[in-house]
Amino acid sequence: MINVLFAARPERWDTYEAPLRTALDAAGIKAHLAQDIAPDEVDYIVYAPNSTLQDFTPYTRAKAVLNLWAGVEQITGNQTLKVPLARMVDPGLTKGMVEWVTGHVLRYHLGMDRHIVNPAHEWAVHTAPLAQERDVVILGLGALGTACADALLSLGFRVTGWSRSAKDVPGVTCLHFEAGLAQALARAEIAVTLLPDTPATANIINAQTLAQMPRGAFLINPGRGPLIDDDALIAALDDGQIAHATLDVFRTEPLPQAHPFWAHPQVTVTPHIAAETRASTASQTIVENIRRGEAGEPYINLVDRALGY
Ligand code: NDP
Ligand code: OXD
Repeated sequence: MINVLFAARPERWDTYEAPLRTALDAAGIKAHLAQDIAPDEVDYIVYAPNSTLQDFTPYTRAKAVLNLWAGVEQITGNQTLKVPLARMVDPGLTKGMVEWVTGHVLRYHLGMDRHIVNPAHEWAVHTAPLAQERDVVILGLGALGTACADALLSLGFRVTGWSRSAKDVPGVTCLHFEAGLAQALARAEIAVTLLPDTPATANIINAQTLAQMPRGAFLINPGRGPLIDDDALIAALDDGQIAHATLDVFRTEPLPQAHPFWAHPQVTVTPHIAAETRASTASQTIVENIRRGEAGEPYINLVDRALGY
């Protein structure tokens, strides 16, 4: 019998208890799963970075911390954490992100706002180009960026992806590292940022990189708020360099009422809802790592703490 601590906001327990138990049973793992276990008896920690658990020192027996979130920026720097940290790669979350990104790309591509908001009842006939005539650039070709790239490709878009290391995604123009960024941005009629929040990606969307995009480009950010220099984006929107931005994530969440993004006519704010971890599929990911830990097999979705993702 192993002990699995569920360390997340109490309301998440109601969502996760049954799916985690089902996944543990299905894997044949005998486990005591609870929100409260003596720290020195815990074998695995199922973890959300906004839980009250911030000091891992007393968890002397823990073998791994299994994050419920895809983003790990709130935990990678925790010096009390000495055991492997796995992040969330969940098919349900991925599907949600693909749907959100595709929807917002299509909004811009088709110019939907022109007809949705038309107070003058103008009979203006503008035919959108076909997707095959539109360049979409995805910064970040990881679990989420690659799935979005595939979905956009299947609609016919010309898709370019940018990542830290070299990639080969069929049908996608893959660029990488610093040298590839300007090249990627130069073709970004629509840019989607699906990068993690790390020291290397902070303010990657800044005055200089915004200026490298085609004039009148669109920006969609479901990654993390610190990827964007907010003042530089507002200046680029005011100047027309960026036509419109859809932002799901922010430096401070909830986005403060006084923040200029709320009132800006060229910004759509969504409240960090692009994609949510889905308990049934996420529980299977968590339990697969517990199974691996018990079998002495390598964990999946391990975080490189030095890189920060
Ligand atoms: P992954 O770790 O799978 O992918 C990250 C990608 O970013 C990789 O392609 C990686 O490159 C690339 N990358 C990282 N650092 C750099 C860098 N310095 N320069 C260039 N490329 C870099 O993450 P996911 O795809 O699973 O998730 C991405 C982010 O999405 C999460 O970190 C989280 O912040 C956000 N997210 C937002 C949600 C929302 O609801 N808004 C929901 C879930 C996640 P390489 O492939 O070479 O390693
Ligand atoms: C995540 C998120 O990181 O919801 O999972 O943003």
